Amino acid sequence: MSTNQLDKKSEAWSALFSEPMSELVKRYTASVFFDKRLWLADITGSLAHAEMLAVQGIIGADDREAIERGMAQIRSEIEDGSFEWKLDLEDVHLNIEARLTQLVGDAGKRLHTGRSRNDQVATDVRLWLRDEIDLIVPLLNELQAALVDVAEKNVDVILPGFTHLQVAQPVSFAHHLLAYVEMFSRDAERMADVRRRTNRLPLGSAALAGTTYPLDRERVARTLGMVDEKGEPQVCQNSLDGVSDRDFAIEFTAAASLCMVHISRFSEELILWMSQNFGFVKIADRFTTGSSIMPQKKNPDVPELARGKTGRVVGHLMGLITLMKGQPLAYNKDNQEDKEPLFDTVDTLKDTLRIFVEMVGGQPNPATGVKEGGITVNALAMEEAAKKGYATATDLADYLVKKGLPFRDAHETVAHAVKAAVSHNCDLSELPLAVLQGFNASIEKDVYECLSLRGSLNARNTLGGTAPAQVLHQIARHRARLG
Ligand code: ARG
Repeated sequence: MSTNQLDKKSEAWSALFSEPMSELVKRYTASVFFDKRLWLADITGSLAHAEMLAVQGIIGADDREAIERGMAQIRSEIEDGSFEWKLDLEDVHLNIEARLTQLVGDAGKRLHTGRSRNDQVATDVRLWLRDEIDLIVPLLNELQAALVDVAEKNVDVILPGFTHLQVAQPVSFAHHLLAYVEMFSRDAERMADVRRRTNRLPLGSAALAGTTYPLDRERVARTLGMVDEKGEPQVCQNSLDGVSDRDFAIEFTAAASLCMVHISRFSEELILWMSQNFGFVKIADRFTTGSSIMPQKKNPDVPELARGKTGRVVGHLMGLITLMKGQPLAYNKDNQEDKEPLFDTVDTLKDTLRIFVEMVGGQPNPATGVKEGGITVNALAMEEAAKKGYATATDLADYLVKKGLPFRDAHETVAHAVKAAVSHNCDLSELPLAVLQGFNASIEKDVYECLSLRGSLNARNTLGGTAPAQVLHQIARHRARLG
């Protein structure tokens, strides 16, 4: 080996090899072109390791100082783009270590004492993912806040609620949006939960069995902020498990998949609502595109793509979970394949959330600070649609129950009334009192109150129901929660 540097990966594992790798194998096995993205986590982990090695007397204080100096230089080289990434050096870890040794000599070679790339890479991925989760949770909160803002303006706007995509019962548009707020709040909870299990330190597991050096793993965990709510260091307690499992990445991708599934449901509704047949909402033009042939078209590209990208993220979940299946303990090179799906999941989720925050809530006007350009609601179209489809039929049944009819009989009676309204081509509320009384003699004039959309809404005044009083209560709760 040349005195102070590792130019080629083969030089990292000595004279044992009798022939060089072919170019094809080199490209096949290298990960540097994607895992260089972990560079900051790699340097951060190395600095914490070096500090601990020095405190434990495993390397000298001068070595630690040299490592810190070298890493500062490497950091600025990577940041200004002058760092030369070498395919020959396989991955981010060997690239950085080789440059360190080139810069500071033997101290650089001492950094890898009591460590293996196996615990190093597991640590890097965890540190990187933890920091990404810390960016994703605020985005989820922003999206919830944007939905709550639109909800607050639309508490009294009524649209048909659907089951089986058939008009079912009238609901408040705010209530409908708040259903998504619930979903995204659970997504944020899931992310926080995944973070707890991600934020644990594998370093010190070494290759697979632990190490002969007197490491202080808890010190490294504290330095890296791998602590629980009480500040207790969180360290992987079994070296074989620490280097090999990627369940935290799978869990994260599962949480991301669920979040994308929620986004795709919302997207589907936006797409329907924007179509001429509904005309319930508009989104700003910048989230749509025209057609190259049909001049009248405005296509909801962003919601459609988000719906499509959900498949991509769910695909990554399948990829990662299948990657783990059947791997014997401990580390296997298979795990190098964890990175691209994980990176792409994070990128897709973050971009999607950012776009949705803006598409729903708009952007602050620089002059006034007031957000503009979010979802526009056509309250009239929603209400007109709610009037079609006999959305208050259940209310008539409930009315009859209150008059003493068993619910099943009331259900049957109302079915006849709906049939009559269909044949007269009118709404239930448009049937004359005498006609209604023909179905049941106990029906009185006050029936029209419960047949109105607003009456129907107001009547659903139980916790979690769509009555405006309940919706306002939920908005206040979300506001307090989201701060
Ligand atoms: N590039 C590798 C990965 O991403 C680093 C660990 C390699 N360890 C090994 N024993 N080959 O997983």
